[in-house]
This record gives sequence, structure tokens and C-alpha cells, in this order.
Amino acid sequence: MVPSTGYNKTRTAVFISGTGSNLKSLIKFSKTTKSPISIDFIISNNPKAMGLNYAKKFKIKKKVLNFKNKILSEKKLLSVLKINKIDMICLAGFMKILSKNFIKKFKGKILNIHPSLLPKYKGLNTHKRALNNKEKYSGCTVHFVNSRLDSGKIVLQKKVKISKNETEDSLAKKILEQEHKLYPKAILKVFNL
Ligand code: GRF
Repeated sequence: MVPSTGYNKTRTAVFISGTGSNLKSLIKFSKTTKSPISIDFIISNNPKAMGLNYAKKFKIKKKVLNFKNKILSEKKLLSVLKINKIDMICLAGFMKILSKNFIKKFKGKILNIHPSLLPKYKGLNTHKRALNNKEKYSGCTVHFVNSRLDSGKIVLQKKVKISKNETEDSLAKKILEQEHKLYPKAILKVFNL
């Protein structure tokens, strides 16, 4: 990605479905001078997503689209993003799969964070599967989004050691803490900063 010209940061939308802790870390990062992005829109497929509260707290526009009719929701989504001059998308715990057509329209401009060391453990229940397989390490990955699930080019990864008495919850917590640091770092890397 090339940073926006002048003093303007690249206008970014964050897509969420739940708690939004990664959204919060991205908002904080976006307010620092070194950030090449500003967070200007929050999209959620879930009207009850806790992360939507950050819209009010940080005065960011938001929209809920239920994705029950994907074609229709994505049509509305594209129009909202266009009207708001959004040029980059960060998926952060967004539980819906975007269509090929949508991804094509934002080619090379959609990032996702995934709680495993990709290409291992694509999809759901990553921590459970890593523990069942007696892995010594897990971690998180920021990658570009392409039309195959969790398969786009990897930007950055952070390894996390799995301890002896690790549970799904403790591992999730440990990895999430790293996610909050990794996503901003990955954005800097994408912008060659
Ligand atoms: C994170 O672990 C992320 O990697 C995964 O879903 C979780 C979202 O957490 N895709 P939050 O909503 O950012 O707190």
C-alpha cells in the first residue's frame, strides 16, 4: 500500500462481529502520529457486537449489515464504503466470509488477523485444535485476504509458547494480547514504514 498523499491518513474500515478488542487496539494505533491509517468506519454483521460501543466512544461511523442475503448486504456495504471514501479494510474477528466479487473490488487492500500460525489451523476452533495436537507453539497471523479462507499472503506472525497446563481460554487470552501488538505492526509493514 502507498500512504495517502499530504497529511491525510488512509481511510480505513474495521469489520467486526464481537468484542472488538482488536478494533480498540487499531483505533488507539490510528491516533498515533506514526499510523498511516485512520479508522473512519466500523462494520458489524452482529447488532449486539460489544465492539460497536467503540463507535460512540470514539465518534466513528458504524453500520450493521446482517449478511443474511450476502449479495444485498455486500451491495449496501460497497456503497457505504464508497460514500465514506474508505480505501482499506481490516477484518478483526469478523465472522462472515466475503464474496470473491467483493474481495476483487478491494484487491490487496483487505487485511485479516487470525489466531494461529497460518497455514496451520485455518478456520474456527484454532486453540482447541492446537491443544489437541499437542503443539508446542501457536500464535497469530496478519494476512491479506484473498478468495480462499485464511490463505492470503502472510504479512506478519507472532509465535506464542503453549505451556504445560494451557487451556483453550488461557491460550486465547495469551494470543489475543499478541494480536493487539501484531496488527499495528503489520499495518506499518504493509505501508513500508
Ligand atoms: C481474535 O482472536 C481474532 O484473531 C479472531 O477473532 C478474535 C476477535 O477478537 N479472528 P476481538 O473481537 O478483536 O476481541
